[in-house]
Amino acid sequence: MQQVTFPVVGIIGAGAMGRGIAQIAAQAGSVVKLFDTRSEAVVEAVQAISGQWSRLQEKGRMTMEALAENKSRLIGANALSELSDCSLVVEAIVERIDIKKGLFAELEAIVGSQAVLATNTSSLSVTAIAADLKYPQRFAGFHFFNPVPLMKVVEVIAGLKTDPSVCDALTRFARQMGHTPVQAQDTPGFIVNHAGRGYGTEALRIVSEGVADFATIDRILKDQAGFRLGPFELMDLTALDVSHPVMESIYHQYYEEPRYRPSVITAQRLAGGVVGKKVGEGFYRYENGVPQVAPEPAAPLIAEMPPVWVSPRASRRAELLQLLKDLDARIETGSSPSPAALTVVAPLGFDVTTVAVVERLDPARTVGIDLLIDDAATKRRVLATNPATRVDMRDAAHALFARDGKAVSVIRDSGGFVTQRVVSTIVNIATDICQQRICSPQDLETAVTLGLGYPLGPLAMGDRYGPTNILEVLFNMQTVYGDPRYRPSPWLRRRGAIGLSLLHTEE
Ligand code: NAI
Repeated sequence: MQQVTFPVVGIIGAGAMGRGIAQIAAQAGSVVKLFDTRSEAVVEAVQAISGQWSRLQEKGRMTMEALAENKSRLIGANALSELSDCSLVVEAIVERIDIKKGLFAELEAIVGSQAVLATNTSSLSVTAIAADLKYPQRFAGFHFFNPVPLMKVVEVIAGLKTDPSVCDALTRFARQMGHTPVQAQDTPGFIVNHAGRGYGTEALRIVSEGVADFATIDRILKDQAGFRLGPFELMDLTALDVSHPVMESIYHQYYEEPRYRPSVITAQRLAGGVVGKKVGEGFYRYENGVPQVAPEPAAPLIAEMPPVWVSPRASRRAELLQLLKDLDARIETGSSPSPAALTVVAPLGFDVTTVAVVERLDPARTVGIDLLIDDAATKRRVLATNPATRVDMRDAAHALFARDGKAVSVIRDSGGFVTQRVVSTIVNIATDICQQRICSPQDLETAVTLGLGYPLGPLAMGDRYGPTNILEVLFNMQTVYGDPRYRPSPWLRRRGAIGLSLLHTEE
């Protein structure tokens, strides 16, 4: 085995994170000394890690020899002083700055002056933790994700005084452990927890506006935009006692930036103890770990399908007309709809009500469809009514767009439907991260795909759905809501026309 960058590594905190980091560091060839103030936590962690290795060996994914070597490299420490020969110490203890600072002050008196010290904090400032150190230049953030062996990305964070060679060494070590390192500036939420703000927060806003319920939003984002988990399924998995404080912390650390504003929905659910799957109830109720989801309403049966007229200003109009033809609709071609016609609009960012008024359409017969994403690329169509839409027109639209068996969700009117709102918010926050130079565009894409499991990096997502479309959604949402949270980042505004994931000379 090649020589590892850090031959002896100390891990402090033998909880969920510390044991994961200990496991991959030992696998990489480092001698690992694991310490916790609760000695039983160390014993449990060493047993759990050894158990993991034995299972890997049984499955043929680790040789007997590697198993024995890994086990021999994992050592439980009984006192902090046993970490004196470590060339790297990673802290994964309780998320409290006073306790972390106290620990590092103590450690500086134990380890050599060349030893690198790192924190796995997810929400505290690396610079602030290092502020009172004798040698703050040897200190950095080394932020892993849970479960560590499976989440193969780690953020390497330089504090204000960190020496670049420290980040280089941590980056090398991350690769030796089989992880992909990304470099982040010391800013609230670093990359992954910052970029992740868009998904849940915008989905919560949509629920809070009564536009759609959470199960519908989950279905839409999975079936239209290809997310593996809906935002509410994800929050149930992470649990609100973890995710709501993160939302609050990032919002306040950015001085109440409206883009990150948390929701009263999660505050109340957290207060009520309805925090997620681990307690059997979150947004969904769980029976034996299985979420109980009410079935979707079936497409209504329509005695006679009205003719359909499509607004000349509909997005993807040619595709929409072709789709209607494929669905065997009677399409009107006049310059305005006949008195019987179902009127279909496909706005970007604007609400159906505004479009009906501006285009002088009869709102009672007007229904919107979300065509930000090409219909052929989705597994679901999303329609929106407006407050005046007649029930027979809503049902006719639902039945018509379900004719080929594709799932259809009907939501209430809002600027930007569901997918437009959530995707545009994700892209906007991501481009703002690039604008702030928190990380390189490449590292952003890597961190989000590996750390959040999105189907595409947010810049690639913006390019896939059209940066000018995303900009149009945001500009129009800003008009609908009069809220600065939808103002496009300067990065998005400037690069909207030339593509987001291109490599630019400026980068
Ligand atoms: P945990 O609660 O599972 O484990 C923390 C361990 O630290 C406990 O065993 C506790 O006895 C020990 N400990 C507390 N104070 C100590 C001290 N002064 N000295 C030595 N040991 C001490 O916590 P978890 O989830 O492993 O988190 C640890 C750190 O990692 C926190 O800073 C957290 O913000 C961060 N983190 C957590 C993630 C997660 O998903 N759980 C993800 C990324 C970072």
